[in-house]
Amino acid sequence: MCKVISIISCKGGVGKTTTAVNLSASIQKEGKRVCVIDFDHQHNLTMNLGIDQASLEHRVTIGDLIETAINDPDDDMMSALIDDSIISTNSVDLIPATGKLAALENIIPMATSREHLLDYIISFLKSRYDYIFIDCHPGLDNFSQNALTASDSVIIPVEAHVFGAEGLEQTAAMIRMVKRRLNPKLNIEGVLITKFQGQTNYCKSVYEQIATDFGNDIHIYAYKIKYAIKVAEAPAFGLPLIEYAPNIQPAVAYLKIAQEVMQNA
Ligand SMILES: Nc1ncnc2c1ncn2[C@@H]1O[C@H](COP(=O)(O)OP(=O)(O)O)[C@@H](O)[C@H]1O
Ligand SMILES: [Mg+2]
Repeated sequence: MCKVISIISCKGGVGKTTTAVNLSASIQKEGKRVCVIDFDHQHNLTMNLGIDQASLEHRVTIGDLIETAINDPDDDMMSALIDDSIISTNSVDLIPATGKLAALENIIPMATSREHLLDYIISFLKSRYDYIFIDCHPGLDNFSQNALTASDSVIIPVEAHVFGAEGLEQTAAMIRMVKRRLNPKLNIEGVLITKFQGQTNYCKSVYEQIATDFGNDIHIYAYKIKYAIKVAEAPAFGLPLIEYAPNIQPAVAYLKIAQEVMQNA
């Protein structure tokens, strides 16, 4: 059985892409078949996995797949195009993004089944992978709705920051709406605290606030991802932390979260 997990938050810079890279690589390290989809026109996931934009000029990207899905292709054509889009990286398989994805923003609202385009694409991948991660962009729009409609569950990274709880409330509200209207099976896998600086009272109090406000309804991972400069360095080498700096706390914590996600299958 394949599980599809969106890494989502309405806020930018909270560690979504970092979580997509490191959680997926950690799960693959545990012996699973894993694919990640870059569903952000800023294409940070694609870059973080060491794939530069110039190399994608003649490649099929997620933007091409969505555009094709809008045009109602036959299944054989869609399947062949999806085969062409998959790139083997230093760690997991990737369906890359380019800035082209942004151009679809005005076209998706006019498509038939506009919230189900990514779900349709992913249906061709489910027999090949145990886990598919979708790295979302920060908006609360058609792209996010497509990601949530295609997912079994979501992980919400929250930065240990004063506005973290506010972002979590907005994100949870969007998830509730998609669950009610589009995808009743959607679950919140957990909230992951990122860039945590445990030595500061400030970070601790933000964490306690989030635990008090949301802890009864939403699972908050016991392992927090600590702030470490090596996390920000690793993308320059196109490597996940388990390869670049396997002994630092964030690498170990992502592995622990990966094990918890796998237990929750
Ligand atoms: N635990 C961490 N420690 C230090 N820097 C981090 C950590 N997690 C993420 N970052 C850095 O913060 C920035 C934003 O993270 P990113 O994963 O791209 O967020 P998002 O995808 O939510 O916009 C990036 O420069 C990233 O390298
Ligand atoms: Mg990102």
